[in-house]
Amino acid sequence: MGADTRYYSIRTGLRADMKVEGSAPGKLILFGEHAVVHGAPALAVPLAALRTTVTVEESPPGSGLSILLPENNQVLRVHLADDSSDNTLSYTAELVLRELKWSREPDLKLLVTSTIPVGAGLGSGAAVSAAIARALSAALGHPLDNESLNELVFAVEKIHHGNPSGIDNTVIVYEKPLFFIKGQPIETLMVKQPFRLLVADSGHRTPTYVTVGEVGRLFGDNPSHFGEIFSQIGKVVQQARTAIENGDLEQLGALMNENHTLLRELTVSDEKLDAICRAAREAGAWGAKLSGGGRGGMVIALVVDAYGEDIREAMLSAGALGVINTVVGN
Ligand code: PMV
Repeated sequence: MGADTRYYSIRTGLRADMKVEGSAPGKLILFGEHAVVHGAPALAVPLAALRTTVTVEESPPGSGLSILLPENNQVLRVHLADDSSDNTLSYTAELVLRELKWSREPDLKLLVTSTIPVGAGLGSGAAVSAAIARALSAALGHPLDNESLNELVFAVEKIHHGNPSGIDNTVIVYEKPLFFIKGQPIETLMVKQPFRLLVADSGHRTPTYVTVGEVGRLFGDNPSHFGEIFSQIGKVVQQARTAIENGDLEQLGALMNENHTLLRELTVSDEKLDAICRAAREAGAWGAKLSGGGRGGMVIALVVDAYGEDIREAMLSAGALGVINTVVGN
């Protein structure tokens, strides 16, 4: 193989004719949220229709590293010397520079664009971190492998989530359906028969660290009762894995309903989420549940194609602000 004689910038390592990009998808938790923080298994899938993309451009010598967020009209400067862990985006970039042993900031601009709604339980935080780390490490000539990237994004997640299980960063970095247990090697989930989900936005939000903290306190006060709920959720997750691997979608829907009831017992549902789930089931969904941190965020409903439009309308009538649809497993 001949030597690569194309021009590389000495300052940044960025090749002049190359557009460097990094991207990452959104995610949905199908089963097991909250219990997964306490050691139970969970199932999650990437949501490829929604993505964050980061494009790298060289900037003039001495101008340093900045992150541009055109949607928010915001520019963040990255300073290696600062402890900017209060800003997760610049902290991500700092961690990449430290990992790659850069002692000063390269002259680069990172342009962030995203179609993942923020704070909605669709993984926007982890996706932005993963896309920044992918783009920056590639621009500096040392693209991080998925294992290092996953560790780095997990370190960032810990800042704004307090006690994350690691499921969000893992499904987003590996971009595969996963069977996940905190701290254990990841297992890919085999989807025998692709299935359609409607994802309804309840329109309101509670930060995940709030609901995770609350469930943690409830568990601390009454370990036997809440420990029993976690273990029941764990059983539902195992059955859901089998249903997905066997293509038994009717059973899968029933398990979604069961998981939602258990999430209600953990106090992370609310009236609106319950109403949207009920409306979806009454309109013909095989099952419905909240997805993610709860007390707002998303509801997912498993739909038979023939009823899709009725179910979508029923969820909107029950107060959902918007409904997207996605197919898991193809
Ligand atoms: O980021 P969210 O809102 O989708 O919630 C993540 C799932 C939790 O189980 C509630 C928290 C975690 O770290 O696993």
